[in-house]
Amino acid sequence: MSETKLTATYLGLDIGTSGVKGVLLDVASNLIGDATAPLSVSRPQTGWSEQEPEDWWDACVGVIDALSKSHPEKLAALKAIGLSGQMHGATLLDKNHHVLRPAILWNDGRSSAECAQIEDICPASRQISGNIAMAGFTAPKILWTKNNEPEIFEKIAKVLLPKDYIRFRLSGEFVSEMSDASGTLWLDVEKRDWSDELLDATNLTRKHMPDLVEGSQVSAELSTSLKSRWNITGAVVIAGGGGDNAASACGIGAIRPAEGFVSLGTSGVLFVSNDKYRPNTKSAVHAFCHAIPDTWHQMGVILSATDSLNWLASITDKSPIELSGMVETDYTGPTDELFLPYLSGERTPHNNAMARGSFTGLSHSSTPTSMAQAVMEGVAFAFRNSQKALADSGTKIEQLIAVGGGSNSALWLKMIATNLNMEILVPQNGDFGGAFGAARLGICAATGADPKEICVAPEIRQVIQPDQDLAVAYNDQYQRFCAMYPAIEEVYS
Ligand code: XUL
Repeated sequence: MSETKLTATYLGLDIGTSGVKGVLLDVASNLIGDATAPLSVSRPQTGWSEQEPEDWWDACVGVIDALSKSHPEKLAALKAIGLSGQMHGATLLDKNHHVLRPAILWNDGRSSAECAQIEDICPASRQISGNIAMAGFTAPKILWTKNNEPEIFEKIAKVLLPKDYIRFRLSGEFVSEMSDASGTLWLDVEKRDWSDELLDATNLTRKHMPDLVEGSQVSAELSTSLKSRWNITGAVVIAGGGGDNAASACGIGAIRPAEGFVSLGTSGVLFVSNDKYRPNTKSAVHAFCHAIPDTWHQMGVILSATDSLNWLASITDKSPIELSGMVETDYTGPTDELFLPYLSGERTPHNNAMARGSFTGLSHSSTPTSMAQAVMEGVAFAFRNSQKALADSGTKIEQLIAVGGGSNSALWLKMIATNLNMEILVPQNGDFGGAFGAARLGICAATGADPKEICVAPEIRQVIQPDQDLAVAYNDQYQRFCAMYPAIEEVYS
């Protein structure tokens, strides 16, 4: 057997909202190959957001087929798969393991009333879960199904998160892990176990839930039929993996206290790792388990980050890259227009699934370029709100690394760095998103390596400094941004 054939490889698969990404690594986290497949979101009603689990599966198989074609020998030496995925989505299976309805996603806001209902039924909900019941989370979606589609609710035998549904298709096993399970509202986040009390609030029990492992542990093995499809002869373990944010943190090495990242993806996330469980439900901070044992994390979440620029691009017949390029060409400092990026509601700090986006400050001088700038700045201001929410819970972030597709725009990162008054580190070539972190969790599961040894920070290509010359102008504009939400709140409650 040739040397190449003997080199063990590890696959990370991220089931994102806009697509599936696969990365193949060697044991030293070097990138061997990657592949992607797009996904689209269906919005049957305003504020709703759904995807077909079968589309996730087809995209995952497409990605692995592509890697098998581009790197046949390397993929044949696969030793582990790590899974990452969009969090919170409700995938409902009946007793024959068939999908009962399209999955209801993390950015679907239909279940606000059910959030209040859960907290009424279980007054200890915030205490046990460490989180406010938010419409994006899984449990309120199940109560919505019970209230609105009782014939489907009656048939539910298992509820799975998106990446855990893919695990089921890869292995036949029902398993989740702590980081993603934290976003269901059924987990006792401090004890790292399902809560019977919270499950009961939605008329479910442990038998509806998958088993739980840590993200760096073995959860299952790849089925024999799939191994032969990809010409793999040895055993392939599947690591627990992580929700996309915890998995990304493993990819950029944010696993020690105060290490964090700013993610400019479909959603925007300001993430910080903690060595303790640190709930702060007052300002809609998410307090979740991390994907490695004895570690937790907090985050502030923006529901439409690059999704806001994508939306403006779609209605102006430009690409998001064209729009950000136009902004870069004309940029001299904050624009007069203001944008609230609440296209699918708002999480941190207001927690209002009914909120909607707004432009204000429009004038005869407004152009697609100035409006695109307002969108980018609106997202930067929303990150500033999340930073404040984290600071209110006593958390200071000491190191911030940029991840996500939007971080290719140095100007967008500069706006964020200036507003957070923090430098932002940009990793050396490579995608340090969920897929990369999941592959690293795969390395830990297959080799037994300590996650702290594997999930280290990448080489840094660039440091984006806050622009002190623009700080005062951005402070003023941020004050206006903050005044906007109370002005629209009553209209959208
Ligand atoms: C986190 C959240 C989003 C999704 C995006 O709470 O809802 O970041 O995980 O994939």
